[in-house]
Amino acid sequence: MRKTLVAANWKMNGSREFAGQFFRDLDLNGVDCDVAFCPPFPYLPIVADLLQEAGRPSVSLGAQNVSEREAGAFTGEVSAAMLKDFGVRYVIVGHSERRSLFGETSELVAQKYVAAKEAGLVPILCVGETLEEREASRALEVIGSQLDAVAELAVDDCWKGAVVAYEPVWAIGTGKTATPEQAQAVHEFIRGRLGAAGEEMQIVYGGSVKSANAASLFAQPDIDGALVGGASLDAAEFAGICRAG
Ligand code: G3H
Repeated sequence: MRKTLVAANWKMNGSREFAGQFFRDLDLNGVDCDVAFCPPFPYLPIVADLLQEAGRPSVSLGAQNVSEREAGAFTGEVSAAMLKDFGVRYVIVGHSERRSLFGETSELVAQKYVAAKEAGLVPILCVGETLEEREASRALEVIGSQLDAVAELAVDDCWKGAVVAYEPVWAIGTGKTATPEQAQAVHEFIRGRLGAAGEEMQIVYGGSVKSANAASLFAQPDIDGALVGGASLDAAEFAGICRAG
């Protein structure tokens, strides 16, 4: 039985004051799924302290990006070992915003995935198709090739200890959610592609998840939670999504 994971991706939002208020407002009573927060890098230790203060040490920390490099003269980069050093458990790799706005290729995403795993982090590998690709009936082909790029580089036990997030690009921040059936069909395809490890892996959905649609998504057999953007900036809304898990 796979446990549900609800991960908050704050993207480039928030402030010290916002974080303080958010965790004062956050009520996770009655939540028994895995919960993670991925704030911007500077807020990682602050969120860790706020979780301790709120008596939520079991809620995990995640980062939104990581360097594929180990260490050295790479100005502006943050290594997987540094994240580990700060008690980070998860790291998002291959988010569509990184792919489309920062030119990250599937090959680079695969290198980041490997760097994360080698440092003992749990990569949350994001895959998903654009609207154009879906309309051209190419969604599964695109997602398959995003997964293959990782499988080619990460070889042994490639998928063990990782999470996959299916995020249709057309559903991110648009208010348009994939229907539970549309999402389920892709999740089933992804699980099949992950081989033996797939049965145990959490495959989460991302794209305009809210407390109002979370339960119907989580009711699908292959949807094991959510990667939440916009709605994760509202403590009550985010708690509602966690409760649905
Ligand atoms: O990482 C989260 C996704 O990009 C979803 O964002 O919930 O604002 O649509 P959203």
